[in-house]
Amino acid sequence: MEAPIGIFDSGIGGLTVANAIRKKLPNESLVYFGDTAHLPYGDKSPELIRHYAARIAHFLSDQGCKMIVIACNTASSHAFQTVKDVVGPNVPVINVIDPVVNEVVDRYQGKKVGIIGTKGTVDSRIYPRRIKKADASVKVASLATPLLAPMIEEGFFRNTISQSIIHNYLEKKSLSEIQALILGCTHYPLIKREVKAFYDGKVEILDSPGIVASAIAKTLKEHQLESQRKADYRFIVSDKTSSFEKSTRIFFKERISLEELRIWD
Ligand code: DGL
Repeated sequence: MEAPIGIFDSGIGGLTVANAIRKKLPNESLVYFGDTAHLPYGDKSPELIRHYAARIAHFLSDQGCKMIVIACNTASSHAFQTVKDVVGPNVPVINVIDPVVNEVVDRYQGKKVGIIGTKGTVDSRIYPRRIKKADASVKVASLATPLLAPMIEEGFFRNTISQSIIHNYLEKKSLSEIQALILGCTHYPLIKREVKAFYDGKVEILDSPGIVASAIAKTLKEHQLESQRKADYRFIVSDKTSSFEKSTRIFFKERISLEELRIWD
């Protein structure tokens, strides 16, 4: 019960999920791994992402993690089963896609929903496949928006450049008449306000951190894995630069110290 939750992403975008977990579950300790040496995952092949995810899952398992959270849509799309195979049946694995799909299916029957994400996530067609499988009446329009994650990571949001890129993507015909938009990348909560403004509040914007934190709380309860102690946090990256460390403030709402571990050496 007192073991940490292991959480990983291609970089520091997954800190938006770590932050939501910290808010919802303040007693839960976290070991965060950001694979900054191999980022971005969004345009890598599924095989390579599975290779990276398997190594990270081994590492987090060796840290004694009681649960693994894949805080990256691209890795969730391609490596969910790989991570489950590595950690075995006794360690629950949560991805950032299924909890959002469940929310969509509950609330948008017969409606049209959009999804934006990296090329890897959108090309995998995981959201439309999962949503259609659960409820064929939901229409899904997907759009790859590969400029958004690097733009956010470089600190370009809430300015004229980000506004023009976001508008350019969201104006695409395929996304017209949607009732809700899934932000299918863990970097995108940072531009939620701008996306909302684009739609003038008429389209609901669904992002994963809050929804995933609730799914984690439910799973911990079901498995009787809730911690009662004070939380402890560890943030590890596979390649540390001062720019990554500076950007942690954007994603985790406070600057944190990163530890570098070259788990591939
Ligand atoms: N955070 C990753 C995701 O949710 C995107 C960044 C990347 O391409 O590595 O898909």
